[in-house]
Amino acid sequence: MNYVKTILITGGAGFIGSNFTKYIYKKYPNYRIVVLDFLTYAGGIDNFESRMMANKERFEFFYGNVCNNDLVDELVAGASIVVHFAAESHVTRSIYDNLIFFETDVLGTHSVANAVSKHKKTVERFIHISTSEVYGTADTDTMIEDEHPLLPMSPYAAAKAGADRLVYSYWTTYNIPAVIVRPFNNYGPNQHLEKLIPRFITSCILNEPLTIHGDGSAQRDWINVKDTCRAIDKIIHEDADKVVGQVINIGSGKSIDIKTIAEIIVKKMKKSKSLITYTDNRPGQVFRHTANIEKAKKLLNWQPKISFEDGLEKTIDWYKNNREWWEKRLWMRKVPIINKDGKKIIH
Ligand SMILES: NC(=O)c1ccc[n+]([C@@H]2O[C@H](COP(=O)([O-])OP(=O)(O)OC[C@H]3O[C@@H](n4cnc5c(N)ncnc54)[C@H](O)[C@@H]3O)[C@@H](O)[C@H]2O)c1
Repeated sequence: MNYVKTILITGGAGFIGSNFTKYIYKKYPNYRIVVLDFLTYAGGIDNFESRMMANKERFEFFYGNVCNNDLVDELVAGASIVVHFAAESHVTRSIYDNLIFFETDVLGTHSVANAVSKHKKTVERFIHISTSEVYGTADTDTMIEDEHPLLPMSPYAAAKAGADRLVYSYWTTYNIPAVIVRPFNNYGPNQHLEKLIPRFITSCILNEPLTIHGDGSAQRDWINVKDTCRAIDKIIHEDADKVVGQVINIGSGKSIDIKTIAEIIVKKMKKSKSLITYTDNRPGQVFRHTANIEKAKKLLNWQPKISFEDGLEKTIDWYKNNREWWEKRLWMRKVPIINKDGKKIIH
């Protein structure tokens, strides 16, 4: 079969990457998908559907490191669209052991951006997945892409800010067809248990404490992963004049504090509020984050469709119905991180 497009998805076996891969697979039967993933603790082949894995003509999986320049060059050479998710993504781990964050997030992006630059005659669009963490704590009510300063507060955020600006500089210097996306806090199925919402949901299922760092007043902008996938889809298909060279926030435009999230989850799962416990605040955390999504609305004619209440309910159901998936990952939650003073930290 002649495919209309070949989409290379790096980090496609992770949380957002696998949701996006499945979204594209379902929506565009005439697109070929190539996934490159190093299957770190955060990625899993079990995030794909077996029917996809069986369709070798339409879906190809490459086990490999995004920092491997030769491999990336070969894969980018065969792609018309590149969506780059691959990264180390956990703020807390970056505080205690950050070299791998700079290697994967900065040098991995360097490898992809170089390949895109080399093959820019055939690559129509390069979507770099950055993060809202690059902004640091909000200076203003909502954070506007081209106005809010970049003040990363953790090594993860700093690595991502480096990658974000690297891609920007390649657009200005080498005219690559890049779009930089800054998603806010995503939630949904297949998200690793080290992240807040899956951790709270699975803690409720296991009748274990829901541990909040600090007083729980830190606010985040929560966006359902399906809405993020729809936004990236729009970016792929929008006119180049409109989106290339742009930085685009993907969020809900509203924020909710961590304590409220814990209370909503406990209530929805019919558990006692006494499961919610508090511990020391962690360094490197942002205190308030709300996206300004006017640019995404205007350029992409996109806005989030899934309310937090509905999205959360479906996510709770997913974790209830997919115990086998998350039980395999439970060990990771119990592995302590050793900090610089040799102290063990459970995250
Ligand atoms: N989850 C969020 O809320 C959120 C918000 C904003 C931005 N982001 C960004 O979106 C992207 C995806 O986030 P996620 O939550 O799905 O992350 P994730 O940790 O679930 O997935 C990352 C994926 O990248 C792969 N990977 C890691 N190192 C690699 C390497 N060297 N080579 C190839 N693959 C490698 C992992 O195996 C995994 O499959 C990241 O770039 C992250 O910074 C995430």
